[in-house]
Amino acid sequence: MSWIKNPSARLVDAKLEPPGGDVVLLRGEGPHDQEQIRDLLKASFPGSGEALLVDRLRSARKIVLSLVVEDRGVVVGYVGFSRLMIEGGDAPFPAVALAPLAVYPEYQQQGIAAQLIRESHACLAALGETLSVVLGEPAYYTRFGYTNRRAARFESEYQSPFLMALSFGFAPTEGRLVYPAAFRALADDAALQADD
Ligand SMILES: CC(C)(COP(=O)(O)OP(=O)(O)OC[C@H]1O[C@@H](n2cnc3c(N)ncnc32)[C@H](O)[C@@H]1OP(=O)(O)O)[C@@H](O)C(=O)NCCC(=O)NCCS
Repeated sequence: MSWIKNPSARLVDAKLEPPGGDVVLLRGEGPHDQEQIRDLLKASFPGSGEALLVDRLRSARKIVLSLVVEDRGVVVGYVGFSRLMIEGGDAPFPAVALAPLAVYPEYQQQGIAAQLIRESHACLAALGETLSVVLGEPAYYTRFGYTNRRAARFESEYQSPFLMALSFGFAPTEGRLVYPAAFRALADDAALQADD
């Protein structure tokens, strides 16, 4: 598989380009992608929680960056980063939260998610962001530099070995993580489903 990247993103890293095969396009989310992103997230996670999360984050204008991978007009991979505030210091500090990340099963194991994450990090750094936080599988996210150690002193309802952070520049190491309200709605929906 080889990659075409949206030149406006100015993120091409030739070293990461896999050789040969089909060509897929990595680009920023556009206005016509929403339905396909919803379909991908519904297919990738149990229930509709993640699809709803993205819809709510988008409506609340909390998405800082979202990239997709497209194969012949079909969105086959997605990653979103939303605004997360770190409170408790002199002033709230803006960071980002990585969620969700998804690739259709037929397209997995080809480095698509890795490429989405790496391109996102380059883009976020170019935008002046300095800290990304994720709640996920350490075995996966540590590949991209996320560590639990970097997140260990944050105060958060999600504090656990699965909470990880990666900094690209100066950023606090402690404080209270304040996620967009859409994450609370996701947790509430999950709790309701568990009660059913
Ligand atoms: C997680 C996901 C996005 C990875 O997509 P992908 O394009 O196949 O990922 P990559 O090709 O970059 O990486 C594949 C590697 O990640 C590993 N991996 C995938 N999911 C993993 C997980 N949950 N925990 C640990 N490792 C995982 C694979 O085993 C594979 O390892 P290898 O390189 O040693 O063979 C995809 O499996 C997916 O959409 N899953 C369902 C949704 C999901 O769980 N999202 C993540 C939420 S935290």
